[in-house]
Amino acid sequence: MKIAGTSYRSVWVDEKDSWSIHIFDQTRLPFSLDILQLTTPEDVAHAIRTMQVRGAPLIGAVAAYGLALALRQNSSDSAMEEQASLLAATRPTAINLRWAIERMLSHLRPLSPDQRVQAAYAEAGRICDEDAAQNEAIGRHGLSLIQEIAKNRPPGTRINLLTHCNAGWIATVDWGTALAPIYMAHDAGLNVHVWVDETRPRNQGAALTAWELGSHGVPHTVIADNAGGHLMQHGQVDLVIVGTDRVTRTGDVANKIGTYLKALAAQDNSVPFWVALPSTTIDWTVGDGVREIPIEERAASEITHVAGRADDGSLTKVQITPDGSSAANPAFDVTPARLVTGLITERGVCPATESGLRGLFPEQ
Ligand code: MRU
Repeated sequence: MKIAGTSYRSVWVDEKDSWSIHIFDQTRLPFSLDILQLTTPEDVAHAIRTMQVRGAPLIGAVAAYGLALALRQNSSDSAMEEQASLLAATRPTAINLRWAIERMLSHLRPLSPDQRVQAAYAEAGRICDEDAAQNEAIGRHGLSLIQEIAKNRPPGTRINLLTHCNAGWIATVDWGTALAPIYMAHDAGLNVHVWVDETRPRNQGAALTAWELGSHGVPHTVIADNAGGHLMQHGQVDLVIVGTDRVTRTGDVANKIGTYLKALAAQDNSVPFWVALPSTTIDWTVGDGVREIPIEERAASEITHVAGRADDGSLTKVQITPDGSSAANPAFDVTPARLVTGLITERGVCPATESGLRGLFPEQ
């Protein structure tokens, strides 16, 4: 995507500079667009754990490059397996992370150690290219859903979408999942407006989604997480569209904490609730998302403190709870398939059911 006229992806390699990996430091957005250089697998693990990079597809792609960096240090079988396990354990919920590491290992295990570094960079590059292409295809399929709404309205009528967290280009290699159809609808001249859930506790909506949409010129309004139900009751949301960190083969959807409540409100108000995902986010081994998907528990300090920009321009954190109050911070929840109108994948849309998913991905 473009920022101020320059095209970027969310991760890239600098071949001239020791084959290092570059990312945007997402903990500094929207206030500062800082590029980070990662030169070791430890740098990559740190970037994922601290959410300098985040978003299910992107952490998979960056971890794949992390393995390439590890192989530059030691490409023996045992070192490769050890580094792969360390990278895969950096965050538990997004399946793309383990998918990417497994794909890298399947490609690299049969090779001799001296062939592995070059092969690893090439495979990580393919993972990135495929992610960008899949998200572009998701955008086209999702665009049809928005065009369908527009068709039944007087020309130029505003279409109100609501999204949670950040499933834009910065959460993927390019385009995003939930935001890809929105970008395409805006570029096609449709009058789209996005309600952006702030997405406490880390505020990925307020900070990242609002920044992305603003950079692309898409009209949007940031709302408190609790406002969505009220807006739906008053006919101000035409469609909810979110991304996901893991979809079970039965269509249950793990996504940022609070997604489930939006789906409940959407069902109560007959608002369509769509989930956009590349097939790398499907966990074919899991049937019951509520019971089987591991939910990341993050630091209590994300609840007790809020990060932002002070009046003097410095980035700061302020405490919002009394000293001594404990805080719990489950980072994801699972929306049961029955609340999901449908899934938007790179191969088209389907119901959130096992037969729907297998219809699109019969090879599984
Ligand atoms: O904790 P995060 O910021 O990594 O959570 C991200 C989300 O929940 C996204 O909605 C999801 O990864 C889909 S990104 C295309």
